[in-house]
Amino acid sequence: MPVVSDGCGLRATLADWRRAGARVAFVPTMGNLHQGHLDLVHAAAAAADRVVVSIFVNPLQFGPGEDFAAYPRTLEDDLARLEGSACSLVFAPPEAVMYPSGRTGTTRVEVPGLADLLCGASRPGHFAGVTTVVAKLFNLVQPDLAAFGQKDYQQLTIVRRMVADLDFPVEILGVPTRREADGLAMSSRNRYLGAAERRVAPALHGALQAAADALRRGERDFVALQQAGMDNIRSAGMSPEYFEVRRQDDLGTPNGNDRNLVVLAASKLGRARLIDNLLVDLD
Ligand code: PAF
Repeated sequence: MPVVSDGCGLRATLADWRRAGARVAFVPTMGNLHQGHLDLVHAAAAAADRVVVSIFVNPLQFGPGEDFAAYPRTLEDDLARLEGSACSLVFAPPEAVMYPSGRTGTTRVEVPGLADLLCGASRPGHFAGVTTVVAKLFNLVQPDLAAFGQKDYQQLTIVRRMVADLDFPVEILGVPTRREADGLAMSSRNRYLGAAERRVAPALHGALQAAADALRRGERDFVALQQAGMDNIRSAGMSPEYFEVRRQDDLGTPNGNDRNLVVLAASKLGRARLIDNLLVDLD
């Protein structure tokens, strides 16, 4: 698997591809790849001729006391996993390439409002870190399209808003969440779960499913659904952070006439902070 670590190497390969008329797709990651990431590569490859995967554990999106130092860095394993995939090139830059002016001095890209609710409320600055790195990566790779997982639904929504507001000529592809057999959404952070916690973790998906089923049956008391979701998660042994029914397009609070909804939840379980969501289309 070809790997480049600086902008020059990346641009040289991209220029060759562009000359040959190739459509380029991009999959940004922080590594520690699992089947969910390979789904992104697969979806990207279906819509393009070449796929660039970036691997960069982005310090800007971790708050003080979060798991930046502990975040699994598994480059050799990641490259081996990508070997059998449709990935054409890996971009694995060091921090100095991404932030030549340093972590605090770098120019930032922020999406106000959307970045402050749900996960943003408990992780101040997190989404500004995400949009800053994604904007920089888009400028380096200049892809025709980029694939993001629906598991991070708020991130996907924020990236879409950034692309619209800043006129990035990049199509954003949302790829469905890959789950374990018991429903737990795949995540690099699942490795923080001990054996007993791992048995409890699928309850998050279970609570989302119960709310989604109720919405499909016609329930429109969103406050009651949210309270029931929090109670379900708590009684399974987790510490819920939020459980919310929102509109899909802008994550606003829905009214009884909205048809395209998303139920989102975040919960602490031991060392892990789990997030998940389900889309509910009522038409
Ligand atoms: O979803 C992720 O893994 C990260 O937030 C991303 C998009 C690679 C930016 O660092």
